Amino acid sequence: MTTKTRVEIPSLQKVYEKYFNIGAAVNPRTIESQQDLLATHFNSITAENDMKFERLQPEEGHFTFGKADTLAAFARENRMKMRGHTLVWHNQTPAWVFQDSNGEMVTRDQLLHRRKEHITTVVQRYKGQIYCWDVVNEAIKDEGPELFRETKWLEIIGEDYIEKAFEFAHAADPDALFFYNDYNESDPQKREKIYKLVKSLVDKDVPIHGVGLQAHWNLVNPSLKDIRTAIERYASLGLKLHLTELDVSVFNFGDKRADLMEPTPEMLELQAERYHQVFHLLREYQDSITSVTFWGAADDYSWLSNFPVKGRKNWPFLFDENHQPKDSFWKVVQFL
Ligand code: GLA
Repeated sequence: MTTKTRVEIPSLQKVYEKYFNIGAAVNPRTIESQQDLLATHFNSITAENDMKFERLQPEEGHFTFGKADTLAAFARENRMKMRGHTLVWHNQTPAWVFQDSNGEMVTRDQLLHRRKEHITTVVQRYKGQIYCWDVVNEAIKDEGPELFRETKWLEIIGEDYIEKAFEFAHAADPDALFFYNDYNESDPQKREKIYKLVKSLVDKDVPIHGVGLQAHWNLVNPSLKDIRTAIERYASLGLKLHLTELDVSVFNFGDKRADLMEPTPEMLELQAERYHQVFHLLREYQDSITSVTFWGAADDYSWLSNFPVKGRKNWPFLFDENHQPKDSFWKVVQFL
């Protein structure tokens, strides 16, 4: 046993109580396997997949809430907040949504009707429990001058598909907070496009309350400067900011190495320094940032252990595979 495991381990969410909520993405397996860790260190959860369209309404009118309800019950039992993720996205949305019974593309009105049904049913079910929803996920195109990603939502409904989603959600639960969520949110070019979209929504009085920065980052990218600029730019719209899917990959995006069975000491050291700097920055913006959610909780389970290199292990979190605090954890909690 090292000295560090013998000293008392502070609760991450208690340390950050005065700053922002500390969240984790979960699924029905991790609320079992990581139960103690989650209950101790996190005061907010997000369903990793179980509230996406394909999970909640795999067939028209046939809603399957079992797993989502299990996660919501876990949050209630542990007095955690819950973020909802996600109502409108180009991925993990079943094909039936965009087709009529002859397999033809639905009309704008039909699609808006289906969307309204879905959003109303889902948002009302968790009214009073889910305090905040990622309403639209990843609508902005990564590269080039065009603003919008090409999706069936855009093709069939048109550009107002985004504001309509916020309006349906707000009508279903006027007390909840509604966010626009995206990745590569700190990249200068994409940042300006996200800003432009969100500003247009704010200018039109669309019920949007915040911007979700997914924050799938690594040891070097994005730069702290770009993160800071992104935070300031989005916050200048007067909206709340959430980091919604934070993880710090030990690999650069183009790094295809797949032979490491454990992280190198150098990776862990760089990761600890990176977390130190990132949380230092986040604390500076505590007036705007109200929630920081990791896309997982500990290194025994992360989507990055399959992406972008299939089968490659990654170690992106503050807790190791045995749920013990890493140096990264100590850097994040020891700042007073
Ligand atoms: C995006 C989505 C998440 C999740 C991750 C990968 O960031 O918003 O729901 O699917 O990709 O796991």
